[in-house]
Amino acid sequence: MVDFKGMDILHGAQFTREELEHIMKVAADMRQRVEKERSLDVMKGYVLGALFFEPSTRTRLSFEAAMHRLGGSVVGFASAGTSSSAKGESLADTIRNVDRYVDVIAMRHPQIGSAQEAAEAAEAPVLNGGDGAGQHPTQALLDLFTVQSERGQVDGNTIALCGDLKYGRTVHAGVEVYKHYDCKLIFVAPDALRMPPEITARLREQGVTVEEMTDLEAALAESNVLYMTRIQKERFEDPAEYERLKGSYVLTRAMVERINPDLTVMHPLPRVDEIATDVDALPGAAYFRQAENGVYTRMALIGLVTGELS
Ligand code: NCD
Repeated sequence: MVDFKGMDILHGAQFTREELEHIMKVAADMRQRVEKERSLDVMKGYVLGALFFEPSTRTRLSFEAAMHRLGGSVVGFASAGTSSSAKGESLADTIRNVDRYVDVIAMRHPQIGSAQEAAEAAEAPVLNGGDGAGQHPTQALLDLFTVQSERGQVDGNTIALCGDLKYGRTVHAGVEVYKHYDCKLIFVAPDALRMPPEITARLREQGVTVEEMTDLEAALAESNVLYMTRIQKERFEDPAEYERLKGSYVLTRAMVERINPDLTVMHPLPRVDEIATDVDALPGAAYFRQAENGVYTRMALIGLVTGELS
């Protein structure tokens, strides 16, 4: 029996395989129930605090939609500028207050480690919606759910992760959940944006097969799933370095059709130019379904950590 009640969701590495499977089972159940009933009333009376100190479209709106579809309500802010952090309030003080208003907190913040800090200040469970270039565990879970939905199962897939593996928090969290499955991982990045070597080394120590490449076409030939990412402009100290690296990889429809027509293409979104829009009409282009899965996965998480779903 997996018990999530009161659990903070902070890091992709915090889960066992049993927990991952349980979250996916509940997310699948949420999808079915939303398709049938549109909205549920399992979280009636509960309030979610959605605290977004950094820009967000999908993560914030899917958390909010998830809470509404569960029958609960939402308060929050969508930029640090409209919260008292603009007046110099510390994160811990903001959280201590919000904790008195709400039952569960979803937060995005530019600082690595901020979600951990919030969890220490709050009694309510904290769901990390991205802490700087650190982690983005709820994205990793919806990505895992998407791989399962698109490919039928997670085991047995070769997953190529391409783009900004240095600053990309979605991939930092993603590898921590894929490692529990029988998957091969291929990291495709320019040298300057490689997966942090300590993450790669630790995965290998844990028995995960990881290959590193710079050539996207070579990786495509070997993969079932491509997880494309945006170069994280906002994390670069030197704008010239961003200018040099942007556009490093562009996936086109012609590439998919020529090299691997069965490819499942994922992306956490937003995309800039790393997936040409002509890919969107391919049956394997899964990124908009992936974004939708964010609602079901976050419904599952909100319900589980509050103890209203099991
Ligand atoms: C990602 C993020 O914010 O880390 N987006 C998301 O949550 N769907 C990816 C990105 O911004 O590139």
